[in-house]
This record gives sequence, C-alpha cells and structure tokens, in this order.
Amino acid sequence: MNLFAYGTLMTAEGLRALLGNRVEALTFRVARLTGWRRVWNVHRDEWGGGVLNVERTAGATVVGVLIEGLNGDDLVLLDRQESTHLPRDSVYVQPEGGEPLAAQIYWRRRGNHTGPPSSRYEAVVQERARQAGSAVQENLSTGSVDPAGQPRRIAISAQPPEVSLAMAEERIPAIKVLLLPKDTNALGTIFGGVILSHIDLASAVEARKVAARRYVTKAMREVEFHEPVFLGDIVNFFTKTVSIGRTSLTVKVSVEAERWGAGRGERVKVTEAEVVLVAVDESGRPTSIR
Ligand SMILES: CC(C)(COP(=O)(O)OP(=O)(O)OC[C@H]1O[C@@H](n2cnc3c(N)ncnc32)[C@H](O)[C@@H]1OP(=O)(O)O)[C@@H](O)C(=O)NCCC(=O)NCCS
Repeated sequence: MNLFAYGTLMTAEGLRALLGNRVEALTFRVARLTGWRRVWNVHRDEWGGGVLNVERTAGATVVGVLIEGLNGDDLVLLDRQESTHLPRDSVYVQPEGGEPLAAQIYWRRRGNHTGPPSSRYEAVVQERARQAGSAVQENLSTGSVDPAGQPRRIAISAQPPEVSLAMAEERIPAIKVLLLPKDTNALGTIFGGVILSHIDLASAVEARKVAARRYVTKAMREVEFHEPVFLGDIVNFFTKTVSIGRTSLTVKVSVEAERWGAGRGERVKVTEAEVVLVAVDESGRPTSIR
C-alpha cells in the first residue's frame, strides 16, 4: 500500500519511531499531488500548536513523498497516530519519472486551528523536507498557507537544525507517577514490583490505543533494573507497539526516572521491558485484535 506524506512522515526517520525497522522495507519517492496545497490549520496537542494539513486548490501542487510498501499493520499504527486528527482518504499522485499511482493521504476537510504553527513541528518538517530533496523543500517553503489562506513562507535551511530532532519530537509517556513511601522497601528505594505493575498498566494503555479490546498480559520479557528509583522520583513509562499479531500484540515499555533528591532534575533510564498482551473475549479466550 502507498501513502502520500507532506509533513513529518516524509522520510524514513519520520516513520521510524512509529514503525521501527519496518521502514527498511519501504521506498520513498518524490511525488506531486496536483490541485492541492499545504495549509497550517490543524491543532495537535503533542506538538503544542498548528500542524500541516492539505486542502483542494485549483492550480496548486503539493510536492511531497510517496511511501510504497506499507502493509496492514503499518497502516493500523499510522491510523492510530494520524487519523485521530486527520482522517485517511485516497488520492492519485504523480511520482517523479513514473506513472500516476493511488495513495492514501491523511487530511481533514475543515481545519480546527487558527493560531500559530507549532515551532517544533515546523523545525522538524523543514528538516524532513531538506532530506527529501530540493523540490520538496522549495514547495514547502513557498507553497503553504496559514489558516486564513495567506501565503506562509518557510525558511529554507541548508544545514540540519542544531537541536536534535529527537529532542524536538517530544515523547509523551503512557503513564507518569510520583512514587511515595508506601512503595519503598527497607532500604528506602522503590520495590521492583511497583515498577513492574506500572509497566503492565502502561502496556495496557498502549494496547487500548491500538484497538479497544479487553487484554490480559501473556508475557513480560527481559526486565533488568539498571538504576534504583528513589522516593519522590517521578517515573515515566514510555510505550511503543512493536508488533501486532492476530490476537496478541507486543509493547515495548521504557522506564525513565526524573530524580528528586540528590541529582535533582536528572533523568535516568531505569529499565525497559517487552510485554505481550492477548485480546480476550467475554470467556477469556483469545480473540482477534482487528
Ligand atoms: C492469555 C491466554 C488467554 C492465552 O491463551 P493461549 O492458549 O496461550 O492462546 P494462544 O496459544 O491462542 O495464543 C494467543 C496469542 O498469544 C501469543 N503467545 C502465546 N504465548 C506467548 C508467549 N509466551 N510469548 C509471546 N506470545 C505468546 C500467541 O502467539 C498468540 O498470538 P497471535 O494470535 O497474535 O499469533 C491464557 O494464556 C491466559 O488466560 N493466561 C493468563 C493471563 C493472565 O491472567 N495474566 C495476568 C496474570 S496475573
């Protein structure tokens, strides 16, 4: 299956956080979507401001990237991230030096944002356009409009931004907890079991985002504690779906503590684990996730 990307998904790097090593199986080609333009009129909480959308406009063209080779699982993950704010649709695009092809696209008919774009999003999209090539960069720079339809120029940068893109793309934990005296052992540090229980919960939160089912935990793999967690630390549980089977899915949970006492403000990696969850029916038997 094909996807036409015009924002942060335009490069393999833009898809890696979502699809992991699956990006190696995809191809990326510059392509044109005729009769459309980019518009900064969609709000996204994760980015703290406006992000890109596209709208039909006679005489305009969006130069973006055609991504080929996506499978059904990839699309489930993409929908989870994108279709919350941009429904998915089908269009025809013209790849450079090739025949027109059908592709999926995320866009919404009506914008829901009139304020300024997210500066973090803008920095990331600029960098993705730079990597996608000069035709994409030029089109992004001159071809987008603000929510009022006024042209919005985006600076062309020849150099990668100084801030790392990993920092620019804020990660949002599935769960964030402040640990209390009831969670401590005799040494005054936090019980491993407390962290395990939150890993279990965080993986269930992630699974529910993929599909609204009832899940049980089948397996938890490779939990090794690298650093202790102390009373008063804020502990973040970041999650990522790494694979989706017929009835099971695997979620990677990374645990990071924000120190409170000595080393206050420091963030340390505590542990990470892979959790296998199985969707079950009313009688507790495995049931299909889709
Ligand atoms: C989860 C449960 C319903 C699964 O039953 P089962 O007979 O193992 O089911 P299946 O053999 O059909 O396997 C179901 C899925 O789990 C996967 N699976 C089973 N064992 C696995 C393991 N050790 N590691 C990874 N995946 C596993 C299978 O591959 C299958 O996935 P798929 O459909 O995506 O291919 C059953 O084992 C159970 O109720 N376990 C207890 C769960 C629980 O209460 N957890 C909390 C403990 S306090």
